[in-house]
Amino acid sequence: MNLTELNRIATAMVAPGKGILAADESSGTIKKRFDAIGVESTEANRRDYREMLFRSNEAMSQYISGVILYDETIWQDAKDGTPLIKLIEQSGAIPGIKVDEGTQALPMCPGELVTVGLDKLAERLKKYYERGARFAKWRAVIDIGSGIPSMTAISVNAHALARYAALCQAAQIVPIVEPEVLMDGDHDIDRCYDVTQRVLNKTFQELRVQRVALEGMVLKPNMAISGKKSPKQAGVEEVAEKTVRLLKACVPAAVPGIAFLSGGQSDEEATAHLNAMHKLGPLPWGLTFSYGRALQAAPQKAWSGKAENVAAGQRAFSHRARMNGLASKGEWQS
Ligand code: 13P
Repeated sequence: MNLTELNRIATAMVAPGKGILAADESSGTIKKRFDAIGVESTEANRRDYREMLFRSNEAMSQYISGVILYDETIWQDAKDGTPLIKLIEQSGAIPGIKVDEGTQALPMCPGELVTVGLDKLAERLKKYYERGARFAKWRAVIDIGSGIPSMTAISVNAHALARYAALCQAAQIVPIVEPEVLMDGDHDIDRCYDVTQRVLNKTFQELRVQRVALEGMVLKPNMAISGKKSPKQAGVEEVAEKTVRLLKACVPAAVPGIAFLSGGQSDEEATAHLNAMHKLGPLPWGLTFSYGRALQAAPQKAWSGKAENVAAGQRAFSHRARMNGLASKGEWQS
């Protein structure tokens, strides 16, 4: 393992003014997104859509540091035969790959999930590295509800995240460690804070036990935020203040960067929250975005599967990327 190189990549992924495009929707998830805009989820349509994003020059060269791909995409070619991964490299962004294989029901823990995909992961990482991937992503999902999460669900997911991260570093790939506490419930921001604190503490404990080099990873957490169905919705300042307090308490300064998921926040909320955090003074790590929905909802709508809308889709993507790029420096204005 070359830790200097892992640290260089991780630092580039969270460079000020830039962030990560999460374009790694699984086949099931991208179908849901396409259903919403009336587009059939065929391999050609998925290719055309992602090619549109990766050819968005303004966004890709100025505001996007890296792109998380799904397995299908990393092997796909653009219409003119150029591998899609080359389009990303040519723009100056770093290609990455989602390597978890989704979730399964966790035995003995009703309603809870464990992320799977460790079997043969070392071999898969080797192939992805040869193809050009320089970072990877693994997402654990923790739900908040009555009596959950259990410590069992938190522990097994943290253990798997650390196993994945160690395998990545051994393969010279920067792991994005993503323990996502969902914002789907009716809980308030303080419950989200408490659960996320337990999840992050356990995750870093496992990372240490399994000898993961913190200097060669990126954390992808949720923000401390109210559940979507909560009657008590915290405002932008409270989300920013509590999230920064939480991360300072749980994330060692050796970690080069933190890149948030958007998790169902609206585009503008996701931008406003990141921006407000940067107003809170110097932070010990790079702090930016790794958004899926909050970067793609607008271009998906503008494109709607029509070739004549490609330029409009690219404009919509570049706009959101620029807004989030500004927010990653605390320079965004509503
Ligand atoms: P969202 O920003 O849509 O939550 O997606 C980010 C991601 O990669 C989730 O794993």
